[in-house]
Amino acid sequence: MPGKKKVAPKAVVSKPPSKPVEVKKDESDEPKLSKSYDLLRGFRDILSEDQGRWNLIRDTVRSIAEAYSFDRVDLPILERSELFNRTIGKGTDIIDKEMYTFTDPSNRSVAMRPEATASAARAYIGHGMLDRPQPVKMWYTGPMFRHDRPQAGRYRQFYQVGFESFGVDEPIVDAQLIVIGYKIFKDLGLDVKVQINSIGTTECRQAYLAELVAYFRQHRSKLSDDDKRRLQKNPLRILDSKEEVTRELLDGAPQILDWLDDKSKEHFMKVLEFLEEVEVPFVLNPYLVRGLDYYTHTVFEFVLADDEGTKAQSALGGGGRYDGLVELLGGRPTPACGFALGMERISRALEAKGINPLERPKPHVFFAQLGDASRRVGLKLFEDFRNAGVPIAEAFGKNSLKAQLDVANKLGVQFTLILGQKEVLDETIIIRDMESGAQEIVDVKKVVGLVKKKLRHEEGVDPIMQSPVETA
Ligand code: HAM
Repeated sequence: MPGKKKVAPKAVVSKPPSKPVEVKKDESDEPKLSKSYDLLRGFRDILSEDQGRWNLIRDTVRSIAEAYSFDRVDLPILERSELFNRTIGKGTDIIDKEMYTFTDPSNRSVAMRPEATASAARAYIGHGMLDRPQPVKMWYTGPMFRHDRPQAGRYRQFYQVGFESFGVDEPIVDAQLIVIGYKIFKDLGLDVKVQINSIGTTECRQAYLAELVAYFRQHRSKLSDDDKRRLQKNPLRILDSKEEVTRELLDGAPQILDWLDDKSKEHFMKVLEFLEEVEVPFVLNPYLVRGLDYYTHTVFEFVLADDEGTKAQSALGGGGRYDGLVELLGGRPTPACGFALGMERISRALEAKGINPLERPKPHVFFAQLGDASRRVGLKLFEDFRNAGVPIAEAFGKNSLKAQLDVANKLGVQFTLILGQKEVLDETIIIRDMESGAQEIVDVKKVVGLVKKKLRHEEGVDPIMQSPVETA
């Protein structure tokens, strides 16, 4: 029975991320004078070439969120700085180096959210959700901001989708959230595995941290200034270090799993049992602590299965339990658990696998006009096709038939509808089969139905975008 699995004290694991390779580009944050309207470093435009994948991610996430009864929330981008300082914690890279903080015109210190879990907890308390039936399950998507070193898969504005579940402390909640993340990847066609660890409660972590500090103190002279600072300010963060020397030292460092109290161990083992039950592949990683201070018990990350999980940018998502967060923000003690996925990283993984859906349905029909009277009919006809759910393209701005047929050819449509002066007068229209060049003249009032029928006969062509609304 899967329940027999013990938390191995020295599990075979992957190491923490190695120092990421910088993408050499303009190193300066200050745009050169001639480039003063360039994008800020680490910011990007997501153009239509990418939107097909983004739509796919959004649609997949939404349908899974609905299936698991998570309610959509939209949370503000700007929050009081204190919300993040308190929850993510001083001594984390996010708070010490990466947050976009400024004073607003009311002289208040505000921050562009680096993540949304703290905001979700603030909303949970602020809207009295403690009094609703628990768990309260929310999901969100939107941009986050971190003034991190930009490189492939790491931006200063990036998008997340996130799931948060408040009010239940059972290990099944942790496991189900992991299953939800796993399912999202599966539905997207990406093979991922879960890296998982437990960092127990704040109390049992104290004894571990004392041991960890003692260990690294012996090697203090080898540590970078950043890691020395971590050791002093927030020693758990040394496990996130990207320094080669520190990573090597980690081999002999005490592991947090050995310091878990019985309750924490039991909680963790149950999560692992549930995951085994549903056959979600996971790897124990005792170095995984995640870069935010609010976590308790289970922490996890999703990495591509064919990735060793050692590259800094390999985490497509991550999360964990955060039983102290609501209380920290002044609410009643409330257990909670959640995760967030990075949309840019998922999009890159999809692209690498050649998964590149179209941003919008490809039109199968083109409308070519000759003169203003024909344009007028065309405008109306365009609406008729749209209402029938058949994507149709046009080049109303072009005058010559040849130029319009060139566009139609480039688009690769099956049929072009040609409407000249004569056809306008006769209330007819020409349907041209673009492959054979054959043309037929039909009643303009019947053309929508006829074209739909023809498209249905064409192999593999589904002309319908959405459920069609038939015109009278
Ligand atoms: P996080 O690990 O900081 O967790 O971020 C989650 C995911 O966002 C990462 O795994 C990564 O895919 C993506 N991500 C983070 N930083 C960047 C960046 N600079 N550029 C591109 N993608 C990035 C959180 O934010 C927690 N709020 C997750 C959570 C929800 N924990 C509990 N509930």
